[in-house]
Amino acid sequence: MATWSAPGKVFLFGEHAVVYGKPGIAMAIKPRVFVTVRRGRRTTELKSAYLKECFRRLNVKGSIYVRSQLTSSSGLGSSAAVTIATLSAINDEFGLSMTRDEIARTGYEIEKKVQMGLASPTDTYVSTFGGLVLVTQESRRMLPPRNLPLVIGNTGVPHYTAQMVNHVREMVKSHPGIAKPVIDAIEVVAQEALRSFEDLKRLGWLMDVNQALLEALGVGHPALSRLVVAARTAGAFGAKLTGAGGGGCMIAICPPRLKNRVAGAITACDAEAIITTIDTEGARRERVG
Ligand code: MEV
Repeated sequence: MATWSAPGKVFLFGEHAVVYGKPGIAMAIKPRVFVTVRRGRRTTELKSAYLKECFRRLNVKGSIYVRSQLTSSSGLGSSAAVTIATLSAINDEFGLSMTRDEIARTGYEIEKKVQMGLASPTDTYVSTFGGLVLVTQESRRMLPPRNLPLVIGNTGVPHYTAQMVNHVREMVKSHPGIAKPVIDAIEVVAQEALRSFEDLKRLGWLMDVNQALLEALGVGHPALSRLVVAARTAGAFGAKLTGAGGGGCMIAICPPRLKNRVAGAITACDAEAIITTIDTEGARRERVG
């Protein structure tokens, strides 16, 4: 029997702009998915297409138990975390000797198949390796880890990444003179953020600017705006949606002493709040017993 876990992720800066070759900054977060795999003569009935595909690809049979601290379909990379933790547990239980790179790559292929070609390699990479990651269209690179005090607010509004990506694509086609400079400005914000990790106040301000630019691209949502305003009013340095938008989650960067107050302001809006920070481990073996 092998138990592994893998973390979720947030986009700190640059979502949507990465689709146009601009840099993005993503970070693994503390909430995790835990998966236990036990070899067996047959694979137990599986409802999740991700789990089925993990067993099928690695050509093994057994039973699986999944426990998640991440709400699914919230934009926090829960499907990637499930897939990476499952591949890691199978790798361990069956002694397959896959490297972390192979696990990240296989995880991405599985996500791509299940999501019909629309998966993001960022989610599986960040979940496998943890930490702070600079994302470009072609590559993902680890940045020095930073202990950012974050509060996540989950609107509970379902969101559809493909729909949001298409929405931006339509705007780029129909109004290039507006959309392209907005995407260029998101790039400048991400570049400035890369130089500002020592200065939480500045990072918060950059999040506010990034939020305004994402709203200009039409990927905001009233429920996200409500949480962003509530977090700022409660003393956050800045706040923005994270991921595809149109629902899902927002993040706020806070003075450490105000994390609880910001979380309270989010729950007062009937949303789920998660106080968190960076996860530097990525996929890890869990001790059981
Ligand atoms: C979704 O989490 C982030 C997007 O930039 C899409 C992607 O990077 O694949 C909207």
